[in-house]
Amino acid sequence: MDTYFVLGNPIEQSRSPFIHQQFALQTKQSMQYEKQLVALADFQTVINDLIKNSVKGANVTAPFKEQALALCTQLSARAKMAGAVNTLSFNNGEIIGDNTDGIGLVNDLKSQQITLKGKRILLLGAGGAARGVILPLLDEEPEQLFIANRTLAKAELLSEQFINDRISVISFEQTQDYQFDLIINATSASLTANVPNISADCITNKTVCYDMVYAKQATNFLLWAQSNDAAKVIDGLGMLVGQAAESFYQWRNVQPDISPVLVKVRKQINAS
Ligand code: ATR
Repeated sequence: MDTYFVLGNPIEQSRSPFIHQQFALQTKQSMQYEKQLVALADFQTVINDLIKNSVKGANVTAPFKEQALALCTQLSARAKMAGAVNTLSFNNGEIIGDNTDGIGLVNDLKSQQITLKGKRILLLGAGGAARGVILPLLDEEPEQLFIANRTLAKAELLSEQFINDRISVISFEQTQDYQFDLIINATSASLTANVPNISADCITNKTVCYDMVYAKQATNFLLWAQSNDAAKVIDGLGMLVGQAAESFYQWRNVQPDISPVLVKVRKQINAS
């Protein structure tokens, strides 16, 4: 039976085995998917062992996504642009790297009937999470993709890697001069219960606010958006299921249905 892993440190909390098992059941694929804790110095050794044991592929999560990229013999364009790999396929001695995080976000938004074409999007953050979604967002042809970051210079550096006139960089303070259709929080602020210090004026009752972080309770960013009358707030659980669906598709060549699995994972989290 074909075997896959998710590798990370920590890994205990990972929902990926459940999600992939659900996809496998849904699409009648015979496969197994396990999680493995990898010691910080052992990533390369673990990958070599997986290949030796004829494992077909692996998802990679923090903190190994950049190391995974460095090990690949082939990379997709989106992995190159993201500067990180979350999906590895082992095939005849080749290590093929992809990054499905950005497409996972876009597919989640689409499945929630949020169109991006012609829209004004504000992306908060300039770290790895923001970088990974820029190309897939641009592919949807928004009117403009604004990138704002607490440290403005980092956003400027990031934007220079994507030569595209749909991208504008603004400071947190400048957000008061704009109104957005969609605001995506790709900062890690929610992990410490913080809210990026942007202006509430850029939210209207038509603005959708998305936090890449998910938790049992709404993040402080989503609560803040709600209290400023955002049209809709969405957490990152759908992005998690969406990126898993795209990895599954890369490995199995079958596209699973995201929605029923998202409902099940949400139930699991609420019950935990
Ligand atoms: P990741 O890989 O999750 O993107 P990262 O590369 O460490 O993590 O980047 C973290 C991002 O969250 C950065 O954009 C950071 O802003 P700075 O570049 O100014 O440090 C942002 N961030 C973290 N905590 C924040 C906070 N409390 N408010 C606003 N932005 C924050």
